[in-house]
Amino acid sequence: MTKADVLLGLQWGDEGKGKVVDVKASKYQLVARFQGGPNAGHTISFEGKKFVLHTVPSGIFTEGCLNIVGNGVVLDPIGFMKELAGLRAAGFSPEKQLVISRRAHLILPTHRLLDAASEQAKGKEKIGSTLRGIGPAYMDRTGRNGLRMGDLLTADFDQRYGKLKAKHQRLLAAMDWGNPEEIPDEQAFLEAVEKLRQLKTDNTEYLIQEALNQGQNVLAEGAQGTLLDLEFGSYPFVTSSNTLASGACSGLGLAPSQLGNITGIFKAYCTRVGSGPFPTELFDAAGDFIREKGHEFGSTTGRPRRCGWLDLTALQYAVMINGVTELAMMKADVLCGMKEVKLCRAYRVDGKESRQMPFDLSTATPIYETMEGWDFDPSELLQGDLANPGKTEMPKGLQKYIERIEQCCGVPVRLVSIGPGRTETLMR
Ligand code: IMP
Repeated sequence: MTKADVLLGLQWGDEGKGKVVDVKASKYQLVARFQGGPNAGHTISFEGKKFVLHTVPSGIFTEGCLNIVGNGVVLDPIGFMKELAGLRAAGFSPEKQLVISRRAHLILPTHRLLDAASEQAKGKEKIGSTLRGIGPAYMDRTGRNGLRMGDLLTADFDQRYGKLKAKHQRLLAAMDWGNPEEIPDEQAFLEAVEKLRQLKTDNTEYLIQEALNQGQNVLAEGAQGTLLDLEFGSYPFVTSSNTLASGACSGLGLAPSQLGNITGIFKAYCTRVGSGPFPTELFDAAGDFIREKGHEFGSTTGRPRRCGWLDLTALQYAVMINGVTELAMMKADVLCGMKEVKLCRAYRVDGKESRQMPFDLSTATPIYETMEGWDFDPSELLQGDLANPGKTEMPKGLQKYIERIEQCCGVPVRLVSIGPGRTETLMR
């Protein structure tokens, strides 16, 4: 029996998980998403094409790889069917390789309205949600009111949908939300639900267990990132799901003892979209440089991302809380040309130096160390491919930066990404 590997983000999302899953997917016979929903945007580039996946797992481009949308995911029928249509238009047949858990919850159009109403009510304290209805859908799941994929096939689905919609409309009225009777996209939702019924659903926990029993390689693909986790992220500025390795257990039906390698993805710097504390955020030219050069604009919402230096204190916390066994550092090329780079080695909290994640991250100010920068031409560094990666030696500054991260986190950096393409990847 094999174990399931986990791949997840160690920062505030957007670390480049899609690319790493895609690079590694050929090794896996099964890739499963375990949490989140269309708030995610996993970008994958190959053969000159670029795809952004929101709910479909990133193994969809790998022939023979089964892709599972796990029970921990919340699925928006409209967006999901659009995503599949986009893949079909690009010449893929995603439904052949896709199974959705019957236990996965549905996002209704009224969940999206509730998301917007909740943000509106919060005013200046808003979370900066992607407004995809994620929080309200998970609230219905926890409140035991939600509708699941399996419910689509029951005779009384329409009545149950009507009942939940009416409840949402009462909530919207209480929140002074425009006209709760007006539900944009309801027709599109009902049509998408009809199509969704044709897709393959199953009790996917059994499929995953069977794959492991047969000795297949299974990958659990996380979305968002550790610092957006509902329990251990920078609450309340978090998402509503469990983004940690432990979320792969509850979100797929795996036992904790069945987890294998846990790959933690991080960028050579930090970014954040939406509100909430970000100790190493840059408000100067260095921040603008990173944003422009790294194309740091949201793949789901297009919002400019907040940019800052790498936060080693937060990274070490993320490695600890996930039990990360290997690291993948993304976008090392973006910092090319900087004479010096900074790393947050500790926080100052209440006047004291601390290497712990505080209860309230907004109380932390960063304590930096400065390191030599690096510069390289990715095409020179890369005179190879995945099987025969970079023949040129890594620049000294970058090498030292990686060693410092490894020393702090106690885990090796096995993969360094120096560009968006599959082959722009160095293995260590
Ligand atoms: P929600 O999950 O849409 O409710 O958003 C909650 C917070 O998480 C907001 O700050 C979002 O910007 C952030 N967020 C949600 N999904 C992602 C993601 O995939 N990448 C980066 N940030 C995200």
